[in-house]
Amino acid sequence: MSVDPVAVEDVSAGLRRVGYLPGESTSLVAFLAARLGKPVLVEGPAGVGKTELAKALASYLDRRLVRLQCYEGLDEAKALYEWNYRKQLLRIQAEAQGTGWDAVQDDIFGEEFLLERPLMTAIASPEPVVLLIDEIDKTDQEFEAMLLELLSDFQISIPELGRIEARTHPVVLLTSNNTRELTEALKRRCLYLWLDYPSTEHELEIVRLHAPELPEKVGERLVEIIAMVRELDLKKPPSIAESIDWARALLLLGADDITPETFRSTLSIIVKHRTDLDTVAERVGVRLGVAAP
Ligand SMILES: Nc1ncnc2c1ncn2[C@@H]1O[C@H](COP(=O)(O)OP(=O)(O)O)[C@@H](O)[C@H]1O
Ligand SMILES: [Mg+2]
Repeated sequence: MSVDPVAVEDVSAGLRRVGYLPGESTSLVAFLAARLGKPVLVEGPAGVGKTELAKALASYLDRRLVRLQCYEGLDEAKALYEWNYRKQLLRIQAEAQGTGWDAVQDDIFGEEFLLERPLMTAIASPEPVVLLIDEIDKTDQEFEAMLLELLSDFQISIPELGRIEARTHPVVLLTSNNTRELTEALKRRCLYLWLDYPSTEHELEIVRLHAPELPEKVGERLVEIIAMVRELDLKKPPSIAESIDWARALLLLGADDITPETFRSTLSIIVKHRTDLDTVAERVGVRLGVAAP
């Protein structure tokens, strides 16, 4: 049922088919991940297509996507499994008076009382899945260490229940927005993909895909201006997500060019910090004004 790519080109074409336009190294690394079974660490600024890559890969490979969204303080109970205490309690109450502790214990530590969290779901799935561990840089190093063990053995030990080994091998993608340095140990176990802002040609292609009706000229101007804005020293440079939003907005407004006025009135779609707004209005606004016929 699931797709097994035999060449890098297969992955490239497959991702395109599901609406993701990969760069060269993206297809290569995705291909290697699918074939070698190694996890991939995808790093890069926010909004350059890291999460979307995992979704597209799952869709192309015809596998279920299991997603673990990381956050500060995420622990094993939310990532791996936890016991369903309520259900255990109910069972204990329902047991006949005088049932020995051994019998009760055997009973309440069975799979039926386990709450599966994403990592366990991915490991225990009878069908191979794509496992997305999103924004791993938001967790702490302790969590990373736990993850390492899981990614090298593909098994989980539950003291009361024993070992749960992977029945199938998931394709694993970890993403990081680079807010902290990840451990060498983790990097060593992963293939590495750095996703950066795309070239203007590549970005134009992505924008066209998401806003096909946008006039050619507007699209071209848009990616040029976005590239210009990214060169400024901003708190948060616009990502592909902002380019797409801007394109859709311009389409709705019926713009057939990006004039200095259009630019000023839609600026807040691409930059979202007070100080960035000022910088961009001043630096790019002026350049547009001068360049306009
Ligand atoms: N190569 C690409 N092809 C198609 N769409 C893309 C591509 N890269 C990014 N996008 C679009 O950009 C947006 C942001 O991507 P996302 O994966 O959420 O970014 P990240 O996870 O890196 O912060 C999404 O709407 C996605 O559809
Ligand atoms: Mg993301």
